[in-house]
Amino acid sequence: MKNTFTKTNKKPIMLSGIQPTNNLTLGNYLGSIKPYVKLQNKYKMYVFVADLHALTNKFDKNNLVNNKRNIVCAYYAAGLDFNKCIIFNQSDVISHNDVSHVLLCHTTLGELERMTQFKDKGLSKNDNNTFYVRTGLLTYPVLMAADILLYDANAVIVGTDQKQHLELTRNIATRMNNKYGKMFVLPEPVIMAHSARVMDLLDPSIKMSKSNTNPKGVIYLSDPLNVVYKKIMQAKTDSFNKVNYDVKKQPGISNLIEIYVAISNISIETIVKKYANQNYAVFKKDLANLVCKELKTFQTKFKKAEAIFDKQIKPLLVKNAKICTQIVRKKTSLVYKKIGLQ
Ligand code: TYM
Repeated sequence: MKNTFTKTNKKPIMLSGIQPTNNLTLGNYLGSIKPYVKLQNKYKMYVFVADLHALTNKFDKNNLVNNKRNIVCAYYAAGLDFNKCIIFNQSDVISHNDVSHVLLCHTTLGELERMTQFKDKGLSKNDNNTFYVRTGLLTYPVLMAADILLYDANAVIVGTDQKQHLELTRNIATRMNNKYGKMFVLPEPVIMAHSARVMDLLDPSIKMSKSNTNPKGVIYLSDPLNVVYKKIMQAKTDSFNKVNYDVKKQPGISNLIEIYVAISNISIETIVKKYANQNYAVFKKDLANLVCKELKTFQTKFKKAEAIFDKQIKPLLVKNAKICTQIVRKKTSLVYKKIGLQ
């Protein structure tokens, strides 16, 4: 695990969030949710549902409501301690947008147009015709910067796809600190060594994503376990039939090995040694059982979260939003003062 923030006596602050767009995947789970759980005692944690970010894609109002709820239930099911972590809905804390506007005015169009996600999700998907690209898709990394900087986060857990946004956040923060005097903490990305980019099972050249078109390449956290098992058994590998870690030559099996590592905490070397004389089917079977075991526990707890959502979880979200609103109001006021608005 790569984590380079400066140690202090006080617990450092960590923040992270997930967009409520489509169903959560094993990529989200291994790249972000599971690490939150792992690190929750080391940091003061803010974990949120990035619902304003979901508007940057086409969305359905009813699905949005369900997806938001599902993310909170997933946090619970994965083992986040709701009494220790501050879990909240982004849109319940109004000022995220206020500071986002200030940051936007200190960011150039060129910086935003360079973002890989904008190029992939915006330009490429629309044949480079900006007429069809939502402006929110261009500006959302700045909203993400506001999400992070408002809470003085020292560390942010992300998969590699979000690393560029973290760099942008640091650039904007540095620029503003230099110009107006220190107001923002520079956040460090925390990127898991083996699950920062879980790949699609059928096309290991692309990221496993909530929005991939072929669901057979994506493990959804809500998939029935027999479906999960089947997807892993049918994952694309290669003709070497040798369990070996080589991302370039054997991307499919390497991706499966990374999933194995992320769930079992066993090293790549040990896994490769263990399956040295076995064919892919044996390895896949073991991996499928491992993933199913993990998801079985997750799904059981998820059902429990759904059952207690209205009575126990929802009031906590409301309470946490109030706590966050105070923190954010203070920070917004500082920013406004520093730049001469107040
Ligand atoms: P989102 O919703 O696309 O993804 C949520 C988190 O899951 C990680 N992730 C993956 N990790 C490994 N392998 C994969 N295949 C995979 N797919 C997704 C993402 O890297 C991310 O950490 N803009 C963010 C949400 C956000 C945010 C923030 C995150 C808004 N504000 C502030 C951190 C801090 C997003 O769209 O993530």
